[in-house]
Amino acid sequence: MENNRPSWTSKYTFILAAIGSAVGLGNIWRFPYIMGQNGGAVFLLVYLLLIMTICFIPLFAELAMGKITKKECIGAFESVNPKFKIFGIMNPITGILISSFYFIVGGWIINYILLGFRNLKIANFSEYFVQLTQNSIPACTYTLLFLLICIILTARGIKKGIEFANNILMPLFAVIMIILIIFGLQLPNANLGLEYMFKPDFSKINPQMFLSALGQALFTLSIGMGALLTYGSYIKEDKNIMKSTYTIIFSDTLFALLAGIMIFPAIFSFGLEPNSGAGLVFVTLPHIFSQIPFGHIILAAFFILLFAAAVTSGISILEVPIASLSERLKISRAKAAYWVFLIVAAISIPATLSFGIMSEYKLLNRSIFDFLDFITSNVLMPLNAFFLCIIAGWFLKIRGTMFLKNKFLSNLFDIGLKYIVPFALILLLIIGLK
Ligand code: TRP
Repeated sequence: MENNRPSWTSKYTFILAAIGSAVGLGNIWRFPYIMGQNGGAVFLLVYLLLIMTICFIPLFAELAMGKITKKECIGAFESVNPKFKIFGIMNPITGILISSFYFIVGGWIINYILLGFRNLKIANFSEYFVQLTQNSIPACTYTLLFLLICIILTARGIKKGIEFANNILMPLFAVIMIILIIFGLQLPNANLGLEYMFKPDFSKINPQMFLSALGQALFTLSIGMGALLTYGSYIKEDKNIMKSTYTIIFSDTLFALLAGIMIFPAIFSFGLEPNSGAGLVFVTLPHIFSQIPFGHIILAAFFILLFAAAVTSGISILEVPIASLSERLKISRAKAAYWVFLIVAAISIPATLSFGIMSEYKLLNRSIFDFLDFITSNVLMPLNAFFLCIIAGWFLKIRGTMFLKNKFLSNLFDIGLKYIVPFALILLLIIGLK
């Protein structure tokens, strides 16, 4: 069975797919608005600090566990100790829950791309966005369409699906981003946006900021759901995964920063507020585009960029349950993909409707969409990452000496993996639950 497992065509395709997984809505939709709500440049500093000192450890542990066990999540945890199977099962379950709200945002993106192509004049984007999210049938159709695109790509397998999508979409993403950045920096007063990003105001620092930054880092680096573990399990050659870890972290951070550089100058140039929350990308930006010549083309280009980022992340989320189902039950990927499609659709339809006709239904006082976001980002991902570090550090005994020559650094890594990171994750969990 193991000999039949697929593997990456080359080192390059693995890194590209891992970066494709990391760079997603978390970078372009979530990062700028969380930064906007947390005071700009100080948040960025806190975020960079956490990423470099804490977050590389669970990221490395996930890749290492995949590479060492060469199994999908459930098998990987089980092979350390059969009692740990349950921690493996948590990963595809988390994946299904994340996709059930991630793909709703993907659906909105498709709608905005079409809007750009049709060149309709929209007078009020806040109204437009509310209507889009509240109209049951179109909203569900867009969600399912996005899900279908990602599921078909994932079902086609590592080479024909995942590598294929990343090879096309990631370069497209980078090219559009560069064009939009050059364009944005030409706007009058663009420097105000850059100042907001890079000139910290230390009076705004607070403890809550560290938690927002840690939660954001886990999400944007795709940690705590087995996506990197599963991708890591397809690594064939003796690859240095410490180097891969840094490449992934560096690229993800670079794209988050570039997203800020793409978005904030435009916002400040038009005298708008950077702290408008989740609507930043769907309301504030389109409003700006509607005021400039050929704005509809820029609108379409921006949402194609977002689409590329969301699809390459979406397929990495779906790969986790699809790989687990097909390898555990020994069924074809196509069949596994079909079941995952049905399950995700069954959860994401009520979540989509929770903006409209099902807005009355509350779980823990939240709409279904907010509940799914909360339970995955605040509870399941930190929890999964916690168990991963404990199992990798204490049972699989992954050690710094395996890949670091410097004794001091490798000791630091061991302490991080066994004590500091699990502690930080539990803290995040406890405070996030309030
Ligand atoms: N990292 C992606 C983003 O920034 C989202 C994502 C993909 C993800 N795979 C994941 C999040 C696994 C958590 C776990 O949009």
